[in-house]
Amino acid sequence: MSTPTNLFWICVFSALLQSLALTQDGLTLLELKHSLNDTKNGLSDWVISDENPCQWTGITCHQGDQRVQEINLPYMELGGGISPSIGKLSRLQRLALHQNRLHGLIPNDISKCVELRAVYLRANYLQGGIPSNIGNLTLLNILDLSSNTLTGAIPASLGHLIHLKYLNLSTNFFSGEIPNFGALSRFKNDSYIGNLDLCGQQIHKPCKTSLGFPAVLPHAESDEAAVPKHSPRYLKGGLIGGALVLAVVLIVFLFVYTFSKKERAAKKYVVVKKQVHQETSTQLITFHGDLPYPSSEIIEKLESLDDEHVVGAGGFGTVYRMVMNDCGTFAVKRIDRSRESQDQAFEQELEVLGSVKHINLVNLRGYCRFPDSKLLIYDYVANGSLENFLHGRVQLSL
Ligand SMILES: *[C@@H]1O[C@H](CO)[C@@H](O)[C@H](O)[C@H]1NC(C)=O
Ligand SMILES: *[C@@H]1O[C@H](CO)[C@@H](O)[C@H](O)[C@H]1NC(C)=O
Ligand SMILES: *[C@@H]1O[C@H](CO)[C@@H](O)[C@H](O)[C@H]1NC(C)=O
Ligand SMILES: *[C@@H]1O[C@H](CO)[C@@H](O)[C@H](O)[C@H]1NC(C)=O
Repeated sequence: MSTPTNLFWICVFSALLQSLALTQDGLTLLELKHSLNDTKNGLSDWVISDENPCQWTGITCHQGDQRVQEINLPYMELGGGISPSIGKLSRLQRLALHQNRLHGLIPNDISKCVELRAVYLRANYLQGGIPSNIGNLTLLNILDLSSNTLTGAIPASLGHLIHLKYLNLSTNFFSGEIPNFGALSRFKNDSYIGNLDLCGQQIHKPCKTSLGFPAVLPHAESDEAAVPKHSPRYLKGGLIGGALVLAVVLIVFLFVYTFSKKERAAKKYVVVKKQVHQETSTQLITFHGDLPYPSSEIIEKLESLDDEHVVGAGGFGTVYRMVMNDCGTFAVKRIDRSRESQDQAFEQELEVLGSVKHINLVNLRGYCRFPDSKLLIYDYVANGSLENFLHGRVQLSL
């Protein structure tokens, strides 16, 4: 055979292969699948032998170029994590992975999906922060990250998302001041329900400066949380003006308190229904709405935990076994406030929780803040590895 003929056949053959091979987006989706734990085999039709991924479960393509436009895989019981490969889906417009069991970080590379309009990651176990370059997703309309174990500050770059119409960061562990500019000044307290240490105008909770003074003086219509708890400090500071404002606020507060008890009772009922039990002292937050007990029962059980319920101690705190009225059993880890480095211990706890090694091992179901401690509620699984984890013997040297 002469060389030109050979070349001819090679060309024909590779052209044939090209037309049969899976598209680049298809290959990228297979990379994503590889990092997911698809225990229910919901993605069994994601196979390399297809020409394109457009008929795969949960996938919608753009007409014409057949690039991936949507990933819709909510309620699929998917575990594992979101691979940074997602950044290669540059024409993705909708990412819906809510109500799964995803762990790990929200990859920074998500900011490369510049056509994204809607991101639904609600009710997973994602950890770490919101990628700081999220502001690059200029077309974003909807961002729902509620009910995860996300931590850290809310990135100011979110303010650049001028098209943002819906934002929900509720029931996470965000902290610090909510930046109040651009798009971020539009969202109110119902975008931030149940976060550990957030403050800012949007949620009517003044941020404290390092001296313990509020950077923003509380409004008269603020809720109880906004009324400073350490009035002596204010007087000591010699801020007579501040003290006066405080006195006025207190008088207004007492007035409102006395004359609207009924309203308050009604309000409290609504709050409990939302599963955020809010009192000045005790705060219960459950994730995913999947802890099927009334807040009052959970709090009662938590309050009655004592030495006889201890299953272990060490590491970051004491672990208790909590048995509900219907015999549902949970592990409760208590971190005492008296510990100097309590907040740090808490952060580390969340870090360990989200670390790859513990994917699918334990799930955090809620947390509760008492005046003197923080309590984390986990699924209770009586086996060695879980106990090691809860006792903190598995340290951060993973
Ligand atoms: C995101 O925006 C920043 C500037 O705001 C830029 O430096 C960066 O390259 C952008 N990233 C992507 C992935 O486009
Ligand atoms: C949000 O703030 C308003 C007052 O501006 C208050 O009536 C409402 O109960 C708050 N909602 C939540 C969920 O805290
Ligand atoms: C955000 O999510 C929380 C909990 O999932 C919910 O209670 C709240 O109403 C949501 N906020 C908005 C603005 O929809
Ligand atoms: C996938 O999830 C199942 C059940 O949650 C678990 O037993 C298994 O170890 C997980 N596999 C991987 C590779 O994480």
